[in-house]
Amino acid sequence: MIRVRAPATTANLGPGFDTLGMALELYLQVEAEFGGSGIEIVFSGVRDRSIMESPQENLLYKAMNFVFKQAEYRHTGLYIEIDNDIPIGKGLGSSAAAIVAGMFTANRLIGDRFLPAELLRWAVKMEGHADNIVPSITGGLAVAMIYAGEVYYQQVRPGNQLGVVVAVPDFVLPTEQSRSVLPQNVALQATVSNLQRACFFLASIQNGDFSNLDKAMDDMVYQPWRKAFIPGFDQVLQSALAAGARGAALSGAGPSILAFTAIGQEQDIGQAMEKAFNEAGVRVQVLYLKPDLQGVQYY
Ligand code: HSE
Repeated sequence: MIRVRAPATTANLGPGFDTLGMALELYLQVEAEFGGSGIEIVFSGVRDRSIMESPQENLLYKAMNFVFKQAEYRHTGLYIEIDNDIPIGKGLGSSAAAIVAGMFTANRLIGDRFLPAELLRWAVKMEGHADNIVPSITGGLAVAMIYAGEVYYQQVRPGNQLGVVVAVPDFVLPTEQSRSVLPQNVALQATVSNLQRACFFLASIQNGDFSNLDKAMDDMVYQPWRKAFIPGFDQVLQSALAAGARGAALSGAGPSILAFTAIGQEQDIGQAMEKAFNEAGVRVQVLYLKPDLQGVQYY
């Protein structure tokens, strides 16, 4: 039996649209082996559209199948068990985790025919967003760069002083819908501000100096458009900061909102975010997490 786990991720982190992503200690786990006839998929944990019973619609199986095809490997029977704790359609990289877990599982099943770098390239192509795929593979905070169609990345380790609180609304915001409202062109001043903030954010994380993370995470490019989908967005951000959060932003394409906290302040911040969301008529689940530093793992 092959066992793989891939972490959830939070993309963008404010100013790093399609560039920055961080892995979180929240996982999709898979167990798989060849055997029997046909494909049997068994689930536990969260389940819905990206993780469906039929192999044709199951994203994790699609990713496995992609690897089998590249290897020209034909199996006669496959048993897959999926245990997923990552909320789906909430901006926490559930699709990326499914693709990463699927590809790494399939590769191990066929004797590690491909290098992780090759799986990473395919996974980015299948998912479309390197800022979720890369950290799910590497762990930590990842900077993804697409240059002439190729993916390049650097990993930064966030250290152990950062807590992560995520308020997960009870509605789904599909990434396509969340991207459909974004402008095609961005003004130079907003671009420069985001560049400054993204670089400042990275340097702050690397130096462990979180004193101006709130300013660094204040995006000018996509949050102003996306927040229309999220009742109470500004109030939730403000409540998190007022309760002591170091910085806060929309998580990935939303609708979840993420706040960085100093260790020990998580509960106050989580409660403040929940209250602000509730006042806007949105029910939420609050997750208290840490950055994941390992990325995809065989276990
Ligand atoms: N960077 C992407 C976006 C992440 O914000 O649309 C999608 O999960």
